[in-house]
Amino acid sequence: MSQSAAPKINPILGPNVMKLGVMAFNCSGGSTVTTAPEAWPMTWPDNVALAQMADRAGFEALLPVGRWKGYGGASNFNNRTFETFTWAAGLAAVTEQIAVLSTVHAPLVHPLIAAKQAATIDHISGGRFVLNLVCGWFKNEFEMFGAEWREHDRRYEYAAEWLDLTRRLWSAEEPFDFDGAFFKGRDLWSAPKPLQGLDLPVMNAGSSPTGQRFSAENCDMNFVMLRQKDQASDMAQIAGLKAIAEARGRRSSCWIHGYAVVRPTQAEAEQALNRYVIEYGDDIAVENMLSIFGMESQTLEPSVMDAFRFHFKAGHGGYPLVGTPESVVDDLVRLSGMGVDGVLLSWLDYLGEGRQWIDDVLPLMESAGLRAPYSR
Ligand SMILES: Cc1cc2nc3c(=O)[nH]c(=O)nc-3n(C[C@H](O)[C@H](O)[C@H](O)COP(=O)(O)O)c2cc1C
Repeated sequence: MSQSAAPKINPILGPNVMKLGVMAFNCSGGSTVTTAPEAWPMTWPDNVALAQMADRAGFEALLPVGRWKGYGGASNFNNRTFETFTWAAGLAAVTEQIAVLSTVHAPLVHPLIAAKQAATIDHISGGRFVLNLVCGWFKNEFEMFGAEWREHDRRYEYAAEWLDLTRRLWSAEEPFDFDGAFFKGRDLWSAPKPLQGLDLPVMNAGSSPTGQRFSAENCDMNFVMLRQKDQASDMAQIAGLKAIAEARGRRSSCWIHGYAVVRPTQAEAEQALNRYVIEYGDDIAVENMLSIFGMESQTLEPSVMDAFRFHFKAGHGGYPLVGTPESVVDDLVRLSGMGVDGVLLSWLDYLGEGRQWIDDVLPLMESAGLRAPYSR
């Protein structure tokens, strides 16, 4: 759907109380670190089928993971990945209403390139583009680029300047000089501007105190990785983030990643989960991931690491949505009450279980008042 018309509101900022997205399906294995036979093989036709299914069901977002290298082990989890801007451009052209995101590693892509790629996809999609800005934590992939590996908090100073320059490129009506701590340039210019202009939403998944502050102060949405120790501390994490944004006169919505296993009974759901996590889980890949994540990010304290070993195999550290359609909707109502505005879903079998979610869970979300009915 190529357009140059004035944009409407980006679907990711739409009215539903609990918005829905699908994540990580540009990567082999998706979000499940397992050798189970149903693990996502990741082909373009399957990506299109899934994106169109979510689009027709009224979901709000399609999020790719920015990944350049796999994690080894028998699954070599995420070793095959579609590049996120070209992926988003392709999906923008074959979907109608859903927001398409690209995930950009700020230290690996110059703002001039990213600003123009984002503007291009914004035009292809008719104003449905969202940029997910990440600073990087997987040191191994930075080594492939020979890129500078900055100290943790310095990465966010870099990202703030990166975003400042990108937004100037999206809005400046005349060429400008830029003289920052990280970027210097003469007569900088980019056109066309995004259809959404400076309203183009930016997300960030910083989870450390510094990362969350950066996100709340500079971005429109934050992907929160809930520590899942208890509900009160998860609520405090979300409230804290929104409070920082409000103090700066901004609004920040909070999204989480949820891995879903929905079956007619709780026992069947848990059995299906345990089968792909315990029977088929790839311990080597997850150890490789967590050893680097533990060292290079400041997201998870050592006390929650053991529980997260399971969550990472089950769904890349996401929040478990495991049970019957009814119990999962109860979970979503509770999450909404905690301040969560959207959930990015992943499944072991994206196409089969995604269809099941649309058929069995979505109508219950509507009855629970989490979403308005969508004509499908
Ligand atoms: C839902 C979600 C999606 C993420 N997507 C990516 C990604 O695509 N690529 C990436 O390198 N990091 C990704 N991250 C990692 C974060 O950007 C961040 O580096 C990490 O959570 C560590 O946080 P910290 O930098 O605040 O310590 C993601 C994190 C979450 C919770």
